[in-house]
Amino acid sequence: MCEASDQRKRAITTSNMVNHNNMADVAKIFLVYENSLSEKQKHGIDELQKQCFRDVDPREVDECFYAESFARILAYHGKEIIGHLRLFRRNTDFDAKSFVLGGVGGVCVAKHKRRKGVATKMIKRGLKILKQEKCDVACLNADLSKSAYKVYEKIGFQLMSRAISFEDVNGKLRYDNGTMFIPVCSKEIYEYIMNSGKTFHYGKGYW
Ligand SMILES: CC(C)(COP(=O)(O)OP(=O)(O)OC[C@H]1O[C@@H](n2cnc3c(N)ncnc32)[C@H](O)[C@@H]1OP(=O)(O)O)[C@@H](O)C(=O)NCCC(=O)NCCS
Repeated sequence: MCEASDQRKRAITTSNMVNHNNMADVAKIFLVYENSLSEKQKHGIDELQKQCFRDVDPREVDECFYAESFARILAYHGKEIIGHLRLFRRNTDFDAKSFVLGGVGGVCVAKHKRRKGVATKMIKRGLKILKQEKCDVACLNADLSKSAYKVYEKIGFQLMSRAISFEDVNGKLRYDNGTMFIPVCSKEIYEYIMNSGKTFHYGKGYW
């Protein structure tokens, strides 16, 4: 199992964005830590999310998806934000084992830029950051009613066969199917969680 890391606190070079790769004409992928997000970036993300998550109940978002992310991965085409995801990290325990849980949430790509590998690039970049952050395993919530969750399967996430639980904003325990996991630093902890018969508890807030 990995030790906890302080890397999150490090300075963010000269700008608030760290360019990790260049997908040539499709998108450039950037890491932006939460406290470095500009107002313009927040606005661009809001607009993209409005376009991509029209079908999601805003009340459910407020009540359930209130966990705080530590960073975003943004995909830019020119000056336009065309892709986004959030990164989470939480110390937790399962069946008396303590470990670091990483997370990916809010994955979305602008309609006109889909099926070009943008989400795949962003998620892979996100997993590298979670590894730097010493996360043992990572998980995400997939909407199983949409075939788009296959993007996660292709990267290596596997659907847990049991429902997970989490505490909503009102302290009520809720259950959900559709959580996918992937090993990051510890295959052993991943196997243990996936093969157990016990309910996996996220803690306060889902992502
Ligand atoms: C899901 C989403 C982020 C995928 O973004 P993307 O950039 O198009 O994904 P990628 O190009 O990296 O896809 C890689 C692979 O994942 C699978 N995939 C992606 N979207 C898919 C879809 N709608 N249906 C089935 N498979 C899909 C395919 O195997 C694809 O490879 P291919 O294009 O060679 O067939 C995008 O469709 C989106 O923003 N949807 C709206 C928001 C949303 O539903 N978020 C996820 C909730 S589960």
